[in-house]
Amino acid sequence: MYPGSFDPLTNGHLDIIQRASKVFDMVIVGVLENGNKKPLFTATERLEMIKEVTKDLENVKAEAFSGLLVDFAGQHNASVILKGLRTVADFEYEFQMALLNKALNPNYETMFMMTDSKYSYISSSMVKEVARLKGSLDGLIPYSIIHKIKEKY
Ligand code: PNS
Repeated sequence: MYPGSFDPLTNGHLDIIQRASKVFDMVIVGVLENGNKKPLFTATERLEMIKEVTKDLENVKAEAFSGLLVDFAGQHNASVILKGLRTVADFEYEFQMALLNKALNPNYETMFMMTDSKYSYISSSMVKEVARLKGSLDGLIPYSIIHKIKEKY
């Protein structure tokens, strides 16, 4: 289970999904529908973008969820919650979430995959900032979805 907001999916996210698809039998990308942040894209739009860029990966599927991540993981019999770590700055928050999820349900293991160094500076919020200020999104998000974010601004 690879959960996130994916608002929008970045090249860093896609790299984790591609590498995870080689390590795990099945990867379910869980798109948080109603988190605390007000998303730019609806859950349906975020799902469509993920499905578009992962369509050639046979063992990857994407689904929206609301409620607790451990409950969603349980519905899919997913035993591993996978997270990407870009820098040590991500670690503290991710460590806290991993421990909380473990306390909520000890059946799931959180595993971390290091983001490839060439993507370590990319975040969905930076991508939105660049798009809002009409900068180039080349190399930040998959080429096939660049027009979707441009349409929003
Ligand atoms: O891409 P993000 O915004 O960093 O992803 C955060 C996400 C979706 C993984 C996290 O907010 C989450 O798991 N939300 C679901 C609600 C939940 O289970 N909360 C308790 C654990 S933090």
